[in-house]
Amino acid sequence: MQTNKIPPGSFGLPILGETLSFLFDRNFSKKRYQQYGSIFKTHLLGRPTVVMIGPEALEFVLSTHIDNFSWREGWPANFKILLGESLFLQDGEEHRRNRRLMMPALHGPALANYVVTIEDITRSYLQKWEEQQEFTWFQEFKQLTFDIASQLLLGTRPGVEGMRLSQLFTTLANGLFAINPLPLPFTKFGKALAARNQILEHVTEVVRQRQQNPTKDVLSLLVQARDEDGNSLSEKELIAQALLLLFAGHDTTTTMLTWLCLELARHPEVLQRAREEQLKFADVGSLTLEQLGQMPYLDRVLLEVERLRPSVGAGFRGVVKEFEFKGCYVPAGWQLYYAIAFTHRLSEIYSQPERFDPDRFSPQRQEHKQYPFSLVGFGGGPRVCIGIAFAKMEMKIVAAHLLSSYDWEILPNQSLNTMGIPNRPKDGLRVRFKPR
Ligand code: HEM
Repeated sequence: MQTNKIPPGSFGLPILGETLSFLFDRNFSKKRYQQYGSIFKTHLLGRPTVVMIGPEALEFVLSTHIDNFSWREGWPANFKILLGESLFLQDGEEHRRNRRLMMPALHGPALANYVVTIEDITRSYLQKWEEQQEFTWFQEFKQLTFDIASQLLLGTRPGVEGMRLSQLFTTLANGLFAINPLPLPFTKFGKALAARNQILEHVTEVVRQRQQNPTKDVLSLLVQARDEDGNSLSEKELIAQALLLLFAGHDTTTTMLTWLCLELARHPEVLQRAREEQLKFADVGSLTLEQLGQMPYLDRVLLEVERLRPSVGAGFRGVVKEFEFKGCYVPAGWQLYYAIAFTHRLSEIYSQPERFDPDRFSPQRQEHKQYPFSLVGFGGGPRVCIGIAFAKMEMKIVAAHLLSSYDWEILPNQSLNTMGIPNRPKDGLRVRFKPR
């Protein structure tokens, strides 16, 4: 190492560090970025932490120096217990092997098999919303995306079984960031553990069924997946990965769809252009993957939602090998926090970054292409979200149906401020909905 100068910044108070300002001060990163730039130190959740911001820093973390960092040692301890030995918490060769085995089920030709199911489930929700007329979209999208994820991943039957699983996943998710990690029946963490056990029971049963009789769902593809040496995922691995995919696959998509509908309602000119693009598919009936690839304006709208309203605002890593960045030295053992949401609002990259402006991604402007790693709502590099193609396809199918056949308006007297993990409008976006 050329230097032993640790990054500028403050460790804050003994024990607490700067955790409270990090949690409650909306301008935490902004103030420090203005003062120190793209790398600074702080102390979060009991650990010395380095925060990294901006495309150059993100390229370093997500791509060029990925082996200096561990996912397992980065995310809060609750993740390790609740999400177990799954891809999200694996590193090195083990991660690479499992990712290779899992990729085909979520990319390329496999996706074409999922379109019909996604459309069928979407249509049933559209009909329900038409009847309800007024509802909270966040709650509805949560059920919709869970139905899609559970039917496509596990072949779960809609109805009672789906509802029960969905509730168990909500309880599991509540435990991930629970501050009190005591596994007692009345703590969030204790309830999450109990939910995990019930989910595991169910998933184990389905894994065993698919091992006997594979179908066309994602789990069946995972059961049959083989690497170049003929190795496959063990039963234990299949169970852990299935639980992870179900978990990772719906809350994120839910919030992004909610923000999409909110921004479209707020920007009628964008909605109108996106709607016109759908006219050419109006008589076609069911959508195909090919048609979904012919919606460049909707692509831009979704990129802008990803930029301005990223479902995952940041990511954690553990520093496992010391490193140097911009003349600062960071020792092994620290925690690293890489900023997604804040990077997306840097005026060095995006003009008028607070404005919702899908045309910043038009072929003429391409603001996100000036520097690599400027748009990282799905992460980036070799560990970019494995569900990115699946999620984009799902969101486009839902959006295409909404745009071509429905109108909606935001109901008054509700808070649309951002809150929660993943970020969502506080009151969940209550709307009045009708066919066009
Ligand atoms: C709008 C929807 C989604 C968003 C915004 C999103 C976002 C992300 C982000 C930011 C990461 C990287 C986190 C990091 O670098 O620390 C990630 C990783 C991951 N996502 Fe997604 N995700 C979405 C949908 C999905 C879906 C549908 C699935 C599964 C079907 C999924 C499965 C995963 C998995 C397994 C990883 C870990 C990949 C690895 O480490 O190799 N995600 N996602």
